Order: sequence, then C-alpha cells, then structure tokens
Amino acid sequence: MPRAIRVPLKRKFQQHLLRWYRKHGRDLPWRETSDPYAILVSEVMLQQTQVDRVVPKYHEFLSKYPTLKALAKARRSDVKKTWYPLGYNIRPTQLHSIARETVAHYGGELPSTDEELQSFKGIGRYTSGAIRSFAFKQNAPILDTNVRRVLLRVFLGKPRTKPSESRMWDLSEELLPRGRVYDFNQALMDFGACICSAKAPVCPKCPMRNFCKAYEKEAVKGKRPPVNLLGSQ
Ligand code: ADE
Repeated sequence: MPRAIRVPLKRKFQQHLLRWYRKHGRDLPWRETSDPYAILVSEVMLQQTQVDRVVPKYHEFLSKYPTLKALAKARRSDVKKTWYPLGYNIRPTQLHSIARETVAHYGGELPSTDEELQSFKGIGRYTSGAIRSFAFKQNAPILDTNVRRVLLRVFLGKPRTKPSESRMWDLSEELLPRGRVYDFNQALMDFGACICSAKAPVCPKCPMRNFCKAYEKEAVKGKRPPVNLLGSQ
C-alpha cells in the first residue's frame, strides 16, 4: 500500500471536492459563524445525531446559552433538559463541564491548541480537528466515520486488511489544501453524507469516479452497476 498520495491525484481530489462543495454544499447554521463556542456546540451535537435533528436544537441551545460564560452559569439539570430530546446522555454534562473549565482556566474563551482541546472530556481527536479547522482556521485534519469511508474508497479501494486509524489520519492530513482547510473539511462531511454514503453511494454523480479505487475495482470485475452498490464499508 503506497504511503504517499501522488501529487497530481491529491490535487485532483482537492479540486473536484472543492468544486463539488461550491455547487452542492449544504447551508448549515454552524457554517455562518466563526464563534468557537457555537462551533463546539454544533460538533458535540453532531457526534451522535443527524444534521436535520441537530439544526433546531442548535438554535434553541444557543439562544438559551449564547456564550460559554452563560452556559457555565446554568444549572446542569437545566442544560440536560434543554438537550432533550437529543438523548439523555453524557454530552450535555460534558459540554457544561467544558464551559465551567474554560471560565475557570481560559477566561471563558475556548483554547485553540490540539493539546488543550483534547484535555477536555468529550473532545477527542475528531472534534478537536473540527474546532481547529472551522473555528480557528488551522490546517487540522478530521476523521470520522464518513470521512474514513470516503478516503478508504477513493484512495485505497477495498483493501484486504483494514488500514490503521493512524494511517487514515495521515491520509486526511496529507490531503489538506493549505489555506482552504475550512471548505475542504466541510466538503468532506457533505460529500460523505450526500454522495459517498455508506449504503447507497451515488457513483454516477460522483466527481471522483474516474480515479476512485473502489469504483475501479467494481469495474474490473465487470460489476460496475448503474447506481453503484459499493456496499457499506
Ligand atoms: N457532522 C459533523 N460535523 C459536521 C459539519 N460541520 N457539517 C455537517 N455534518 C457534520
């Protein structure tokens, strides 16, 4: 398995993805803000909940708790109540703790380094990458289920052995177009949700079709269907 992506292939992927996103990217409320706190709220909500269920709750949550300071002052039971019906789970509790810790240690502002962000319970490598690239415009990679599936299909096809997490993170980092990381990472999310989906990828509409490893493999076996059924990966 090659460790590095050839530069022309990398450029082609970046250009096709960004062009696709300009035309088909979704208008989502957390893309209209550069407030790190609002972006944190959206990313924590999106960790386990679909976009269409998150949108109304995102607005409600931010109108009730517009800043980290406001959230820190709230009662935990109220925060959990507001979170419902996204699920009574650990996420509102962790978000509330993050707010209290930022007020105690960072003057109520979210810190911007990977180390600081991942020191909070509830912020792992993915959420840190999302916050750094979306809120602080850093060249930070992201890797969630959707992104992993897209990169796996396009660049590795259907490998016999599952690539390691660190291999996939390296790939996500290697592909980043410096200075265009905000759009690129948002585009990866939409592309994984709308085109390269798990169960019903829309290969005929996919701009990566001509160089996608998984698509090519189906063709070699004479199995390339009109609506591609690459199957979930
Ligand atoms: N899922 C996680 N983060 C997302 C984002 N910023 N946009 C769309 N879907 C997402």
